Amino acid sequence: MITSSAPGKIYLFGEHAVVYGESAICCAINLRTRVQAELSDSVEIISVLGRSGINFEKHPYVSAVIEQMRKFVPIKGVTININSELPVGSGLGSSAALTVSTIQALNQLFDCGLSLEQIAELGHNIERDVQGNASPTDTYVSTMGGVFMLPHRKKLKLANCGIVIGDTGRDSSTKKLVLNVAELNNSFPEIISPILSIIGKITSFGEYSMYNNDYLSIGKLMNINQGLLDSIGVGSLELSQLIYSARSKGAYGAKLTGAGGGGCMIALTDTGKINDVSDAIESAGGIPITTNITDKGVIVE
Ligand code: MEV
Repeated sequence: MITSSAPGKIYLFGEHAVVYGESAICCAINLRTRVQAELSDSVEIISVLGRSGINFEKHPYVSAVIEQMRKFVPIKGVTININSELPVGSGLGSSAALTVSTIQALNQLFDCGLSLEQIAELGHNIERDVQGNASPTDTYVSTMGGVFMLPHRKKLKLANCGIVIGDTGRDSSTKKLVLNVAELNNSFPEIISPILSIIGKITSFGEYSMYNNDYLSIGKLMNINQGLLDSIGVGSLELSQLIYSARSKGAYGAKLTGAGGGGCMIALTDTGKINDVSDAIESAGGIPITTNITDKGVIVE
C-alpha cells in the first residue's frame, strides 16, 4: 500500500491581478489531502462522499487521474482511500491537492517514474479537463511545496509566522468572479488596469518584506491589497466581517485568499495571538483553521 499526501495553498498577495500578468505570491500550507492506494481486483474509490468505481459525478478528480494514467500503465484494479484536512470548494486548492496526491500514489504503486514537473503538469491537465478551466498554480504549488512568486515561479523563502484561515462556509465560483473582473475592466479600463498593476506592485513590496521577515509591513501590504480586491468587486460582507474581526484582535494583516466572493480569508498573526484571532473569526461567524506555510509538497508518507 502507498500513502501519499499533498498540501493546499493560499495567496498572500496578487490573486486576480495575476490573471493579467501581474505578480502574485502563492504559498503551500500545512493542510493536506492524503490518499492511500492499494492493488485490488477492481477500482474502488472511498471518501467522505461514499464509495464508487470510476464515477465522474461522485469522484471526478480521482476518476480522471485513473483514466489518464491508464494511458501509460495498465491499471486493472486499485482501492483508493481519501482523507482531507482541506475544506472543499473554498479556494484553498483542495481539488489540486487531491489530484496531485492521487497521481503520486499511483505513480509509486505502478512504478510510472513520473517526475515532480510531470506530476504538476498532468495535475493541471486533469483539473482543466474536470473544471473546464484552471490555473496551473494550484497543482504546481501543491506538487512542489513552498512559496512562489508568480507568474515566473520564483521560489521565495518561507515566512515563519502563524496563519489563521477563516472559512465563510460559502462556495464561490472562480470562473464567475474572474469574468466579473474582466467585465469591470472592459467598462472602466483606465481605472481597473492601474488597480491591477498596483496589486502587482504590492506583491513586489511583499516579496521584499518577506525577505526581511518584516511581518508588520507584510500585514500592512495585505490590508492594502484587500482594499483593492474590494474595489474590483470580489469581496463580500462575510469576508469583511472575518477580516475586520481578525485585525481587531491584533493580526498583522488580513485579506481574502483566492477568488473571493465567499470562500476563505487569511490572517497573518504573531504566534502569541493565534488563539485570540481564531476566537474572533469564530465569533464573527467563520470557521477558523490554524496553519502555517510549508515547504513540503507532494510526498510519499
Ligand atoms: C483563484 O484561486 C486565483 C485567481 O487569481 C484566478 C487564477 O489565478 O486563475 C482569482
